[in-house]
Amino acid sequence: MMFRIAPTMDSFLIEGGTRLCGEVQISGSKNAVLPIMAATLLTAETCVIRHVPDLSDVRFMCRILTSLGAQVEFDGSTLTVCAAKITGTGDYDLIRKMRGSICILGPLLARLRTASVSLPGGCVIGTRPIDLHLKGLRSLGTEIHVEGGYVKAHAPELNGAHVFLGGRAGPTVLGTANILMAAALADGITVLESAACEPEIIDLADFLNAMGARIQGAGSPTITITGVRELHGVEHEVIPDRIEAGTFAVAAAASGGQVTLRGARPDHLGAVLDKLQEAGARIDRRGGALTVSAGSFLRPVDITTMPYSGFPTDMQAQLMALMCLAPGTSIITERIFESRFMHASELMRLGADIGIEGPSAIVKGGKPLSGAEVMASDLRASAALVIAGIAASGKTQVHRVYHLDRGYERMEVKLEKLGARIQRVPGE
Ligand code: EPU
Repeated sequence: MMFRIAPTMDSFLIEGGTRLCGEVQISGSKNAVLPIMAATLLTAETCVIRHVPDLSDVRFMCRILTSLGAQVEFDGSTLTVCAAKITGTGDYDLIRKMRGSICILGPLLARLRTASVSLPGGCVIGTRPIDLHLKGLRSLGTEIHVEGGYVKAHAPELNGAHVFLGGRAGPTVLGTANILMAAALADGITVLESAACEPEIIDLADFLNAMGARIQGAGSPTITITGVRELHGVEHEVIPDRIEAGTFAVAAAASGGQVTLRGARPDHLGAVLDKLQEAGARIDRRGGALTVSAGSFLRPVDITTMPYSGFPTDMQAQLMALMCLAPGTSIITERIFESRFMHASELMRLGADIGIEGPSAIVKGGKPLSGAEVMASDLRASAALVIAGIAASGKTQVHRVYHLDRGYERMEVKLEKLGARIQRVPGE
C-alpha cells in the first residue's frame, strides 16, 4: 500500500475576528500511536489499531514499517500491521526526517537482537539528544556504536536490569517507550526508575500488556517489566489526543467562544484546564462532556513547562498566543526544550509584545492583534499562529502548514465547522 503525504507548501488563509462555537471531535493521539505502531514490530502476528489519526507523521511511520518489511494497511482510521518478516535496517532518510521514529530501535532489538537505525537529527525546538535511550538499552546488555549517522545496536542477549532514566530536563517520553519495548522481551525483570508518566506511556503499556507483556506501574515514575518469551497480535483503540484537545480549548478561549471537546479525556488535561481557568475561561465537565468557554475577561497567568502532570511543553506556544490577548504581563518559562520560542517573533508580526530572557518569554498582553503573513516553524508553533490569526482582526496567512499536518488531523476543516473563516491555499 502507498502512503501518500499531502503537498508540502500549503498555507492557511484566515479572516480573523470570529468566535468559535459548537462541538469538535478529538482525534486519536499522535504521540500515543507512533510508539504503538513501533510496538507492532514485536510480534509476527497481526495487530489492529483503531482511532488512528490521519496525519503525515502517521503516514511516515507507515512507510518506515513498510521499509522494514511489514505489511501495513491504513484506511484513515484503522491501521493493520503484520510484521511477520522484518529486517533490522530501516530507510535512512525516512527515519532521519521524523524524530518520533527513534522508537523503532527498542522493538527491533527485542525481536531481532540487532538493529541499525539512522540517528534522528536535532530540530528547530532543540538539539534533542538520544543519550538516555542508548544508556537504557546498554543497561539491558546491548552493544551500541554510533557510526556514519547510524545507531548500530547488537544484543546477543537482552537481560533485565535496574535502569535510571532521568536526564537534565527530567524523564524522556520516547526513551521510556524504547526501554519498555526492549525489556518486554528481555530475560528477567527490568525496573525502570524516573520513567516518563505521560498518558501516552500508559497507552503503550496497555497495548504491550494486551500483547502478552508483563508491565506494572506505567503512569508512575517506577515501572517494572517482567520479560516474556513472545508477544502476540492484538486489537487496540488509541487514546484521544490531549494536545489537540488543549489546542481547541485555548482556541475557544482566545476567540471569545464556546467549544465542546467530544471524546477528550479531562483527566489528561489537568494542568491545561487549570491554567485556562486561572486565565478566566470557564470549564464545564457536566454529563461526561468537556466544554470550554471564554469568560467575561482574560487574565495573565505565569506558566512553566514540566513533564506530566505538569504543564506540557506541547501547549506552551498555544498558551503564549492566548496570553498575547490578556491585558497585563505573563511569564512563560520553557524547561523541556531549549529553543522552543520560534513562534514568539511570528506572534510579534501580528502586533504582540514579547521579550525573550533566557528560558522565559515575557508577554505584555492586551495589545490589539492584526493580521499578517507569518511562517510556521514547528508543529505547535503553527497551532499558536492559527489561534492568534483567528483572534486577530483582518487577514492572516500562515505559511508552511505542513508542520501542522504532522500532528493535527484536518485542523482547518474542524475549525471551519466551529465558525472560523479559514481556508487551505495550495502551495506552488
Ligand atoms: N533528552 C535527553 N536525552 C535523551 C532524550 C531526551 O537529554 O536521550 C531531553 C530532551 O532534550 C528534552 C527532554 O529530555 O530536553 C524531554 O524530551 P523527551 O525525550 O521526553 O521528548 P521526546 O520523547 O523526543 C516526546 C514528544 C514531543 C514532546 C516531548 C515532551 C513524541 C513523538 N514526541 O518527544 O512531542 O514535546 O515528548 O513531552 O511523542 C510534539 O508533539 O509537538 C512534540 C514535539
